[in-house]
Amino acid sequence: MTQPKKLFIKTYGCQMNVYDSERMAEAMGGQGYVTTDSPDDADMILLNTCHIREKAAEKVYSELGRYKGLKTAKPDLKIGVAGCVAQAEGEEIMRRQPMVDLVVGPQSYHRLPDLTAKAIAGERALDTDFPEEDKFEHLKARPKAARGPTAFLTVQEGCDKFCAFCVVPYTRGAEVSRPANRVMTEARDLVERGVREITLLGQNVNAYHGHDGGLAGLIRELATIDGLERIRFTTSHPNDMDDALIAAHGDCDKLMPYLHLPVQAGSDKILKRMNRSHTAEQYLKLIERLRAARPDLHLSGDFIVGFPEETEADFQDTLALIEAVKYGSAFSFKYSERPGTPAAERPQMDEAEKDDRLQRLQALLTRQQRELQDAMVGREVTVLFEKPGRMPGQMVGKSEYLHAVHVSGASLARGDLAKVRIVSSGPNSLKGELIPGEG
Ligand code: SAH
Ligand code: SF4
Ligand code: F3S
Repeated sequence: MTQPKKLFIKTYGCQMNVYDSERMAEAMGGQGYVTTDSPDDADMILLNTCHIREKAAEKVYSELGRYKGLKTAKPDLKIGVAGCVAQAEGEEIMRRQPMVDLVVGPQSYHRLPDLTAKAIAGERALDTDFPEEDKFEHLKARPKAARGPTAFLTVQEGCDKFCAFCVVPYTRGAEVSRPANRVMTEARDLVERGVREITLLGQNVNAYHGHDGGLAGLIRELATIDGLERIRFTTSHPNDMDDALIAAHGDCDKLMPYLHLPVQAGSDKILKRMNRSHTAEQYLKLIERLRAARPDLHLSGDFIVGFPEETEADFQDTLALIEAVKYGSAFSFKYSERPGTPAAERPQMDEAEKDDRLQRLQALLTRQQRELQDAMVGREVTVLFEKPGRMPGQMVGKSEYLHAVHVSGASLARGDLAKVRIVSSGPNSLKGELIPGEG
């Protein structure tokens, strides 16, 4: 029997890349590749890359540099670059890095097996098309192996919003939704393999239109699947948060009370220049409506500081918005100039000032996050257990609010859902005790 070839995939960027990497590994499985955790013994290395900020994109070149020695020692080693940097800079990668054998964009990775065959035949292969065909329909059926209790499921891709700072509309292309029946089939299959929580993914997931009832309609249909206990979705745009989706947060039990709803900034001037097409006030009103539907909803957001021409007063507006919302978690970034985006043409801010604002913003977000987490002590939550904890007999899982919760209980297994009372709150996680007679 021939030895299986080994594939090492390194994933950068968002959850959509995590999902894509899984699908790429499965596609290569059909070509006789098994995945490995180490680049050292790989026959093929694939970097699934992110272009969102300069630092993310630079990592690709430094990582490739590290593989030079490996490639010299093992000339048959194939090196591929996939994802958003591949899409944005594919030809440049080929020029700058002669050791790269193949480049494949996020919309054409169903062609990875063919590209690999070309690379093995000694050709260098590049495919950054936005093909007409649906890549998901051209990928092999997913394997049937058992898997852990949580899974991502991409239902929507691309973005038509063109925020002035963002590369995603260029790297991922126009908004497309997968048909609801295909999503249902994939979800049922995941549940049969042991999945109890599905996170629906899309660059603008709430713009999903593959179901007559939009994303809310899809969520309600998914909720009918026996054995699927939890549904989440990310990432949403405030302008696509329609009434039906707000209502689903109120009455669909399987939809978890956690929502990632980025606003980026709190100043109307900056929001306008970012092309976000809503005001701070509209965002706050939306949050009010969501909380009216689901009072215990935990909110998460993304923020950019140091956008071109952001004044101290604009920045103070962002802090004020954060004070008003109270986020359970958040991601914050210094504005990074991206080639080809309108904001890169504007006068840029001083780097030290950006650093200072980021620190002040993060201090506020960390304090809020900690306060909300500490307020969980004494409360009852439901935990879906995912893996063993560091202490013997301990398991770690996620509450409905996405807090990591550590619980000791000899009988707990991966994939169990149990009622837990929170007893203490640490820097990044909670500790809980099983509620006797429940679970
Ligand atoms: N589609 C999602 C997120 C896309 S990227 C949305 O609209 O919210 C994830 C986050 O990266 C963004 O929310 C934004 O906060 C950040 N981001 C995007 N472009 C950036 C840039 N040029 N500089 C810094 N942060 C950026
Ligand atoms: Fe980027 Fe804006 Fe689209 Fe989000 S909505 S992916 S930030 S352009
Ligand atoms: Fe990065 Fe592309 Fe996701 S740029 S954030 S990997 S969509």
